[in-house]
Amino acid sequence: MARLLVLVFVISSVIASVAGSNAFFADDNPIRQVVSDGLHELESSILQVIGSTRHASCFARFAHKYGKRYESADEINRRFGVFKESLKMIRSHNKKGLPYKLGVNEFADMTWNEFQKHRLGAAQNCSATLKGSLKRSNSIVPETKDWREAGIVSPVKNQGSCGSCWTFSTTGALEAAYAQAFGKNISLSEQQLVDCAGAFNNFGCNGGLPSQAFEYIKYNGGLDTEEAYPYTGKNGVCKYSSENVGVRVFESVNITLGAEDELKYAVGLIRPVSVAFEVVDGFKLYESGVYTSNSCGSDPMDVNHAVLAVGYGVENGTPYWLIKNSWGEDWGDHGYFKMEMGKNMCGVATCASYPSVA
Ligand SMILES: *[C@@H]1O[C@H](CO)[C@@H](O)[C@H](O)[C@H]1NC(C)=O
Ligand SMILES: *[C@@H]1O[C@H](CO)[C@@H](O)[C@H](O)[C@H]1NC(C)=O
Ligand SMILES: *[C@@H]1O[C@H](CO)[C@@H](O)[C@H](O)[C@H]1NC(C)=O
Repeated sequence: MARLLVLVFVISSVIASVAGSNAFFADDNPIRQVVSDGLHELESSILQVIGSTRHASCFARFAHKYGKRYESADEINRRFGVFKESLKMIRSHNKKGLPYKLGVNEFADMTWNEFQKHRLGAAQNCSATLKGSLKRSNSIVPETKDWREAGIVSPVKNQGSCGSCWTFSTTGALEAAYAQAFGKNISLSEQQLVDCAGAFNNFGCNGGLPSQAFEYIKYNGGLDTEEAYPYTGKNGVCKYSSENVGVRVFESVNITLGAEDELKYAVGLIRPVSVAFEVVDGFKLYESGVYTSNSCGSDPMDVNHAVLAVGYGVENGTPYWLIKNSWGEDWGDHGYFKMEMGKNMCGVATCASYPSVA
């Protein structure tokens, strides 16, 4: 018991030193002696708990890279267990020759339940889009599209541990619409939507829908800038100020439920479109290629993640949607993923809409 306590102390101290100033520990402090040559302090303390097999060093490097904070030896052991399961899943998946690859990322030590709880909103009912409002002309839809090339797609953001994906999908769509309309970049407030958009069927860190966020912004009169109303990743009290409005929404268009041809028209000819879909286990470890799944559905009651479609194309014969996520630039393909197009895969066209700004 005493040994365990010492160990826990060493780990938490090491974590404190990694996170903060090294000056916290004097050079003659015994904790410094934990450090073995060439290894970071956190890595060595983890190896002390789980031994130094190949998987253990892999896990220690992972923990260091992603700045993990484990509170106890027990937690280290548990996280190592989950991590090994993730490695197994990655290895067996990547052998199957499917059009996409999995890889280790910051979620490799999280179980599916934890991931659902901390990263995904509750499933939302989006059948309000049964009657879409897109008006189409005879224009020819381009074969491929990538709005990043037009310089209107804002950088990838990170929602952190809050089911606020819908706010990032909303700001992503508005930032692109703004850049397209005014030729200027802007970063807009997700936190205002988390804190203030509840009357429109949104639930802060517990989920919401971009279409409902657009309705809120229309009604409210505007959305503040990121700078004026910065992101905290927690539900809070509404602090909207009309003096800090970055953008106004005068219209939004809903895509008819499941109509991928409408979605293609909008993404191809108009601008990036907010979409939602059903995330299932495994997706969190996506690394590259065109994602496809037999286990996700397209039911309007099952979508649990909102993102931004910024283009489409074909890779090795498989058509795909190019989609910007909000799990940081390190996730997936530089923060993006590709989703198979043509089957309403995971409900990608179940709940889509885009705004017009002023
Ligand atoms: C989902 O929303 C639609 C349209 O607003 C409504 O008709 C339907 O009853 C809702 N379904 C559930 C299960 O809440
Ligand atoms: C705006 O952002 C885009 C994408 O991040 C970038 O390509 C472009 O150069 C930026 N434009 C300005 C005027 O800063
Ligand atoms: C789009 O959908 C939202 C709800 O998701 C609804 O409030 C809004 O009225 C719809 N807009 C149009 C133009 O139908």
